[in-house]
Amino acid sequence: MTQTRIILDTDPGVDDALAILLMLASPEIKLEALTTVHGNVNVEKTTRNALALLEFLNARHIPIAAGCSLPLIKSSLHGGEVVHGASGLGGAVFPEPTIKPLHIHAVDYLIERFLTEPNEISLYAVGPLTNVALAIRKEPRIVNAIKELVIMGGAVRSGGNASPQAEFNIYEDPYAAHIVFNSGIPITLIPLDVTYKCLLTSVDVERLNQIDSPIAKFVRDVTVDYMAHYLKYEGFAGCGLHDPLTVAVVIAPELLSFEEHYVNVDISGGESTGKTFADFMKVSKKPANMKVALDVKGREFVELFIERLKKLSLLNKKEIASG
Ligand code: BDR
Ligand code: CA
Repeated sequence: MTQTRIILDTDPGVDDALAILLMLASPEIKLEALTTVHGNVNVEKTTRNALALLEFLNARHIPIAAGCSLPLIKSSLHGGEVVHGASGLGGAVFPEPTIKPLHIHAVDYLIERFLTEPNEISLYAVGPLTNVALAIRKEPRIVNAIKELVIMGGAVRSGGNASPQAEFNIYEDPYAAHIVFNSGIPITLIPLDVTYKCLLTSVDVERLNQIDSPIAKFVRDVTVDYMAHYLKYEGFAGCGLHDPLTVAVVIAPELLSFEEHYVNVDISGGESTGKTFADFMKVSKKPANMKVALDVKGREFVELFIERLKKLSLLNKKEIASG
């Protein structure tokens, strides 16, 4: 099987952690590296969480480069502690990781990796786009070296989750998103329009926990407060599988319905800053700059997610228990 080679730019984050689990559970994917960014919590914490998670999963061989601590222009972080918990990983507790990040900044790491092997590796970005935008500005040749850029971000027809109009990853650094969207990199966008149709419930989590494994228990611990937040503020018993849904682009693209559109981000500084909008009626006459997922077979994706995590739980049970 030819594997899709992926570098994941991430801000773990509950659903980031679930995306990492799903990638490691998917034989179609070779997860080659993680780069971390500010977002759900600060970059020190997102980096610590990434290291701790890979150590827990016996995936110490995957390198991690720490990235930007602040957005390009905004001087403060909105942050996601209220959703993802103070550590960023809800109620999951890990010991201090013994593995360390690389001695290279994430932006330089991305440039080096993509320029060394042009068009061989895909970049998945599931946090604010600061690292990716800076890499484009520092080394514009990266634009032609990234095979595909899959982004979890934006709310195209749906409302926002960070402001009434803006989705969190884009809202956190709209200027970075503006640079990335207009860069010419082949982009696939997975916005809230589809991720909110992929709801993991506590019943699903308990189905997974029929297997007595550290991974299944981790999924329960990491999601319990996240689900409580969704129930309190959004009125449903479950949580959106935002970042994990990017993995469907490789493992189950038939579950997603895509359209090609010109999509941009509002950086006007007004109330709708961070809003992503698509030129559905082609009035701007601008060529499409990305493929946008606008529908998904949500329950089928959640079932696939559970099936993959069950297999991972069984596979790694012994290894992790003795690790
Ligand atoms: C996105 O925002 C973050 O809180 C999640 O990790 C996800 O990447 C969803 O809007
Ligand atoms: Ca994320």
